[in-house]
Amino acid sequence: MTLSQNSEYFAGESLNVDRIRRDFPELSVKVNGNRLVYLDSAATSQKPMQVIRAVDEFYSRYNANIHRGVYKIAEEATAAYTESKEKVARLINANGIEEIVYVRNATEAINLVALGWAAHNISKGDHILISEMEHHSNIVPWIILSNRAGAVLDYVEIDKSTGLLDDNSLHENLEKSPKLVAITQASNVLGTINDVKQIAKLAHKRGAKVLVDAAQSVPHMKVDVRDIDSDFFAFSGHKMLAPTGIGVLHAKAEILDRMEPVFGGGDMIKSVEYHSYTPNDLPWKFEAGTANIEGGIGLGAAVDYLNMLGMDRIRRHEMEITKYALERLQDVSNVTVYGPSLDMLESRVGVVSFSLDDVHPHDVATIFDRDGVAIRAGHHCAMPLVTKVIGKPALSRMSFYMYNGNDDVDAAVKAIGEVKKIFRIK
Ligand code: ALA
Repeated sequence: MTLSQNSEYFAGESLNVDRIRRDFPELSVKVNGNRLVYLDSAATSQKPMQVIRAVDEFYSRYNANIHRGVYKIAEEATAAYTESKEKVARLINANGIEEIVYVRNATEAINLVALGWAAHNISKGDHILISEMEHHSNIVPWIILSNRAGAVLDYVEIDKSTGLLDDNSLHENLEKSPKLVAITQASNVLGTINDVKQIAKLAHKRGAKVLVDAAQSVPHMKVDVRDIDSDFFAFSGHKMLAPTGIGVLHAKAEILDRMEPVFGGGDMIKSVEYHSYTPNDLPWKFEAGTANIEGGIGLGAAVDYLNMLGMDRIRRHEMEITKYALERLQDVSNVTVYGPSLDMLESRVGVVSFSLDDVHPHDVATIFDRDGVAIRAGHHCAMPLVTKVIGKPALSRMSFYMYNGNDDVDAAVKAIGEVKKIFRIK
């Protein structure tokens, strides 16, 4: 895609949201007679026509298995799948496609590290360090692994007053010389952006490997795995405009080289004997069986779309909406907002979780839906954070992307008014 900076997608330095919305067919769907106001992109993003068309074109014109056929359409499918990895590698500044393993989602990427690396490198009494800010994908694999290995799972605490990780807790836990530090780059509940580059530097000094859960960061900001110096870096395609069922594990090539494959089968081998096999080159060694070809191709098209708008512009746009949302919610009584405050806008992504008096978030979300406003309600796949740290059974959450504007925030604030009316709250 070669749209210039002055194209119809931009209004000066800002994004032209009206134009962008026209690329997303679902945004013109009516919900209960209202425009769909989609405020749940942290759960999954909407998909632009460019991605839908790329998938459609694959199935309509060159559907064939990859790495197997020598005929034209099979070569075309293989080339498109490989090219998508090149795009992903450039997006995150990886050294090359040998470091880009396609999986189903960030969760599978983290489980692959647990089974393929940690299971062979972490033993009884070793420490694994995560944080209270993680969602279940970056907690449960480590509970399973530490139970199996007899390892100790430690948590960096959250400073409840700021919504940031507690520096003292980080340093104290690093003193234990964990074998692995696995931390989110952006919280799906608080929106907090963690300085994973600094954490990686400190963790490496203590001899730990570092895994970054980038599910909520890669879709929304420029990331650079070489600058961060992460050993493992996990994210999902479906939160960044791509289809579901495609995700990425980036890992340093020297680690992947030594890592055992977790799944065996076709495509991950060079040769097979009765009692032995020779694994394929990177990254294919970790992709057993027929790949999610449509997902890979769709992810490539999604990266094109993100690049066309520019990650810096997307980030600025989301910061502006987040600022507007935080300002508007300040004026609404009985609403509590969680995460870094307005004066720390730089430290948060476009995620705004809130509670409204004692109204259950499921009631809030149901009343929002009557106006066509889609928000997430619940524990946000982060029960320790929501229930233990914040101390609520559930929260309501709005999350933003490039197709959201201040009008969406206005619709949400209006819907809060409806909830208040129904529950007779001032
Ligand atoms: N972890 C995803 C969310 O925050 C599913 O909604």
